[in-house]
Amino acid sequence: MELLQDSFGRIHDYIRISVTDRCNLRCIYCMPAEGMEFEPHDKIMSYEEITAVLRELAPMGIRKVRLTGGEPLVRKDIEKLVGMISAIEGIEDISLTTNALLLAKKAQRLKDAGLNRINISLDSLHADRFAMITRGGDVQQVLQGIEAARKAGLGPIKLNVVLMKGINDDEIRDFIALTLDQPLHVRFIEYMPIGSASDAWRQSYLPLDTVLDVCRTEGWDVEETSGPSGNGPSQNSRVVGAAGTFGLIHPVSEHFCDNCNRLRLTADGHIKSCLYWSDEYNVRRVVHDPAAIRALFLQALGTKPQNHEMALALEKKTQSHTPTVRRMSQIGG
Ligand code: GTP
Ligand code: 5AD
Ligand code: SF4
Repeated sequence: MELLQDSFGRIHDYIRISVTDRCNLRCIYCMPAEGMEFEPHDKIMSYEEITAVLRELAPMGIRKVRLTGGEPLVRKDIEKLVGMISAIEGIEDISLTTNALLLAKKAQRLKDAGLNRINISLDSLHADRFAMITRGGDVQQVLQGIEAARKAGLGPIKLNVVLMKGINDDEIRDFIALTLDQPLHVRFIEYMPIGSASDAWRQSYLPLDTVLDVCRTEGWDVEETSGPSGNGPSQNSRVVGAAGTFGLIHPVSEHFCDNCNRLRLTADGHIKSCLYWSDEYNVRRVVHDPAAIRALFLQALGTKPQNHEMALALEKKTQSHTPTVRRMSQIGG
């Protein structure tokens, strides 16, 4: 069977599947203040359709699946999909990225269904600030979700912190301090300009060198580490002697596209070969035709660009392709 290789020789073994564009939060870096119009239910891929696609992709080399949203835990019986995916031969790693509001209730059921790992968005440890960034979220609920995931053995638990200048950059120290005595893995993420031309991004963007500056100020010795295991772009380090790690995900200041191993499927059934650009292919139209599913993924990879040009967006310079108009909540990050 033909492998999922693009025209730059990159082999794709990882797919991020958005299972819904709905979310129970409206984070400031992800959705507009007024919220989004959600897709009607009949436009969303069913679990049967998602697994029909994955059954074609596994023999082509897909080994790792991440479920995203919107918020994946708002989709009804999401653990059922996890179970269906874990029954597909060849899939070795199933993970999920969540805001964790519903995790306390779901962690054990997800683990029992075959979920291996979980990544949790948490941009502030302060209740009032967390509520501001998420437009109404309760940080205690997230902390309870993290505890439930730990008890259920959903590890390693990674926390995603989107770093925003003047909003949460004074918490870098506190987030790294969490890793000193707990086996938590904090990843700082550069704010990406996805699906929004708004200037808010430009004002809040902060390059991740800032994180290493904080370590120097604290007098923390830092060593690089390959762990914890992951399929994404995080570059990981630990404070020497710490129980956990921290990672840097820096798409804007230094892209990692040369090693890109991932494809994306939107909740309404569009293949995206790159998070940033607008190119997409509707697989739902051919979902009952296995050969056509495989051909469409190869076609999508055939036009995958070499890299994104987010840094040009920062400088307001012209880009070579058209950036996507989908918001982050409609792609799943
Ligand atoms: P693991 O490494 O397997 O734990 O997962 P991950 O880091 O790929 O997944 P997660 O959903 O936690 O993503 C963390 C951040 O990385 C999010 O902000 C994603 O949007 C970003 N990210 C993941 N893959 C890519 C990518 O291919 N390109 C860009 N620009 N950002 C990405
Ligand atoms: N820039 C960087 N990361 C983002 N995420 C959502 N929107 C953005 C953005 N504009 C992150 C969330 C989530 C992950 C899937 O993507 O924090 O953890
Ligand atoms: Fe891959 Fe596009 Fe992300 Fe670059 S920006 S790593 S090409 S998905």
